[in-house]
Amino acid sequence: PRVLLLFGGRSGEHAISCATAGGVLRAIDRSSYDVLPVGITPGGRWVLVEDDPDLWSIVDGRLPEVVDGPRRVLLPQAADEDAVRVLEAGLLPRDIGQVDVVFPLLHGPFGEDGTLQGMLELADVRYVGAGVLASAVGMDKHVMKLVLAGQGLPVAPFVVLRPGDFGRDPEGWTQQVRGLGLPVYVKPARAGSSLGISRVDDLADLPAAVAEAERHDPKVLVETGISGREIECAVLGGRHGARARASLPGEIVVSDAKNGFYDFEAKYLDESAVELTCPADLPGDLVAQVQDVAVRTFEAVSCEGLARVDVFVTPDGEVVVNEINTMPGFTPFSMYPRMWEATGLTYPDLIDELLRLALE
Ligand code: DAL
Ligand code: MG
Repeated sequence: PRVLLLFGGRSGEHAISCATAGGVLRAIDRSSYDVLPVGITPGGRWVLVEDDPDLWSIVDGRLPEVVDGPRRVLLPQAADEDAVRVLEAGLLPRDIGQVDVVFPLLHGPFGEDGTLQGMLELADVRYVGAGVLASAVGMDKHVMKLVLAGQGLPVAPFVVLRPGDFGRDPEGWTQQVRGLGLPVYVKPARAGSSLGISRVDDLADLPAAVAEAERHDPKVLVETGISGREIECAVLGGRHGARARASLPGEIVVSDAKNGFYDFEAKYLDESAVELTCPADLPGDLVAQVQDVAVRTFEAVSCEGLARVDVFVTPDGEVVVNEINTMPGFTPFSMYPRMWEATGLTYPDLIDELLRLALE
């Protein structure tokens, strides 16, 4: 089959998506798949890029980026148009229809949030991963919590701040947040890789944290910090309507993160900040409980294909869902593939399985 590998994109997680694509380009089975690597620039242009995994990785803290080049494909009839205008003209769906399956290795808004998935539905082309609704729900931490809580899954207490609700009066925010206890985590509702997230231990720091989150999204979520172990679990859709499968869980151990939690820097730039332990050292009953919560979370948002479900395991053995990521980081060193590796599915086989699920 012909696979369009789509990566980069307009979100703050552009570089992470590029690194993910590098891993997939290196590992995908070339005897089974013809690969067409297409990068989306931060400005939204679609360009054919070099099929060279080495270009697409984070080296010494340097983040890769898709830049516009002369060799744009897919849009040959509209070489001077940008992708958005081409979509308006109705050209993009037709061009995309020339591949068998799209692997949208995109993180964050305009990639992981249902917008791209909607375009692919219109173009009638198959794609890996969650559909429109699950992608949109998974991207918006506020709606995600409503959907999960509505189906009986435990989530941390939270309030939503929209600046318009309170004017510019930080007193109003503080009043809302006081009931949550401390610390709280302040998050843009729709972002990923911890971009815009702050941990607040003193309410005096709340306005600055809200301002930081607002740079990414006008809708801001403030959550009670749950004390517990940070456990992640990988989920893979079931074949032919079978129930989704859960991997062995992994654990994030924050040892020396500058900002005290698993933030962007600790995730991608500072190797000594955290340790990813896989599989997590958990008793069997807790493993089963985490796996059950992970699969129920996947099902609660009507997810398909893949997801990583991040939870807290509290000292008294409660599993609280932090979030679901419908296109988790996917380099060979990322938690999602590592958890499958620990469960018996290698990285190349995982890629193959995801493509087969999409082509089913
Ligand atoms: N949003 C990042 C890529 C993740 O969840 O892994
Ligand atoms: Mg996320």
